[in-house]
Amino acid sequence: MDGHSNSNSSAVEDMKVYTGTLVHATEENPMLILEDKVLGVCHGKIEFVAPATEVENLKAKYNFSDANVTALTSSQFLMPGLVDSHIHAPQFPNNGIHLDLPLLEWLQNYTFPTEARFCDLKYARAVYAKAVDRVLRSGTTTASYFGSMHLEATKILSNIVLEKGQRAFVGKVNMMVNCPEDYRELSVDESAKETEDFILYVKSLNSPLVQPIVTPRFAPTCPKEQLERLGQLAAKHDCHIQSHLCESQAEKAWVKDLFAGSKNYADVYHTAGLLTNKTVMAHCVWLDDEEVALVKGSGTGVSHCPNSNMSLRSGMCNVRRLLKAGLKVGLGTDCSGGFSPSILNALRMAVLMSKGLSAMSNAKHLTLEESFRLATLGGAKVLHLEDRIGNFEVKKEFDALLIDVEAKGTPFDIFPEDTTEEKIQKFLYNGDDRNILQVFVAGQKVVDQMA
Ligand code: GUN
Ligand code: FE
Repeated sequence: MDGHSNSNSSAVEDMKVYTGTLVHATEENPMLILEDKVLGVCHGKIEFVAPATEVENLKAKYNFSDANVTALTSSQFLMPGLVDSHIHAPQFPNNGIHLDLPLLEWLQNYTFPTEARFCDLKYARAVYAKAVDRVLRSGTTTASYFGSMHLEATKILSNIVLEKGQRAFVGKVNMMVNCPEDYRELSVDESAKETEDFILYVKSLNSPLVQPIVTPRFAPTCPKEQLERLGQLAAKHDCHIQSHLCESQAEKAWVKDLFAGSKNYADVYHTAGLLTNKTVMAHCVWLDDEEVALVKGSGTGVSHCPNSNMSLRSGMCNVRRLLKAGLKVGLGTDCSGGFSPSILNALRMAVLMSKGLSAMSNAKHLTLEESFRLATLGGAKVLHLEDRIGNFEVKKEFDALLIDVEAKGTPFDIFPEDTTEEKIQKFLYNGDDRNILQVFVAGQKVVDQMA
C-alpha cells in the first residue's frame, strides 16, 4: 500500500500529514499494524503512505512543512472510521430499554409507537440531532440509517447528517400492513410517490456524502405490489436498498404464510428486484443454503447485528458460514434492537457470539482481527463503497479515527510492557468514545476532543 502520487502541485495548506502508527484491514490481512509510517491527506483523500523515514523527501516533493505534520504519540494511532451498516435513528429514545419481548411483539409494543411520534417535526429534529452526534462520537464515519415512515422527518434526518458531516445513506421507511393504523402508508401509490420525493430531495442536496436508500421495512409490512414498486424505483434512480431478512424464526415462518407462492424469504425480495449489489440485508440469521446462494448470487451484503440478535433473542448468526459462502458481511448496531450505538460494541459482540457458537460446535470462531475487518472494510463493501473508504489505501477518502489509549478518563489500563498490538487489542475490547480523540470524514474533522 505504500505509494506516491506523481503530482507535486498540491498547495501546502491543503496537505495534512500524520506520522506514527496506522492500523487497518486489507483483503490479505484482517488487521495490519503499520508502525513508524507517514500518511498524507490532500483534498480529503489519502495521497501517500510511506515509511516515516521518507518524511523529508515527501516534504520536498509535496512542498509541505512541519506545520502540516501531526506526530502521533506512542499511545496514539490512526484507524479507519467505523461503518454501521444498519441503524434506526428514530429508535434512539429506546436505546437500552424495552428489551423484554421477542422481535414481532417488540415491534408492535414499543418500536412502532416510538417511530409514530416522528410526525412531530420538532421532536424529530431534537432526537435526530442527538442521535447523529452520538453515532459520530462513537466513531461511526459511515452509517446506513432507517428513518421513520414520515417523509418530512426523514428529510430532516438527511439535513442533520449533512450538517454534521457524516457519510451516510438515509432511508424513508415503507410499511403499509401489519402495523398500527396511525403508522402506516395508505396506498402503494403514496408509498412510491413519497419515496421518490425523498430520493429526489436527498439527491438535490448534492452531497458527495449523503445518499438516499430505498427502505422497505421488511416483507411482513409490505405487500408484493409495494415491494415491486420499490424495486422499480431503486432501479430507476440507481439507488441502494436496505431491509431486514431472516431475523427471527417466528418472522421467517410468518413470511412463509404471507407469501405462500414464494420459494423462501430471500426470494420474496429477489422476485421484487430488491436483491442487488447495492442492497444491504440486516441480520440473515436464519438463511437456509438456498437463500445463502441467492443472496450471494445477487451481490447483496449482510449487516450482522449481534447485539440485537441476542437482545431480542432472535438467534445466533453463523457469520463464519456466510463469509465462507462468499457473502459480503459488515456490522450493524440495529439500535434500538441492539442497545448500543457503538460499532466497537458490535465488533466485540460479533466475536463473543461466534465464540459462543464455536463452544457448542467446535467450529472455528471469528477472531478480534476479523471482526475489526468487518467493522471497517467489510462494512464498506456491504455498502458498495470499497473503492472510496474502508482502509488506508492511497487514493481512498480519509475517513479515520485518531485513537489515544491513554486519553483522559480512558476506561482501561496500559502498562509499560504493553506492545503496540496489545494496546490496540485493549482499545478494541475495552475502549470507548473517550479514546476517540478525533473523527475525520473525507478529511474533514467532524469530532474534536483535542480542541
Ligand atoms: N424488522 C422490521 N423492523 C425492524 C426493526 O425496526 N428492528 C429490527 N431489529 N427488526 C425489524
Ligand atoms: Fe433493524
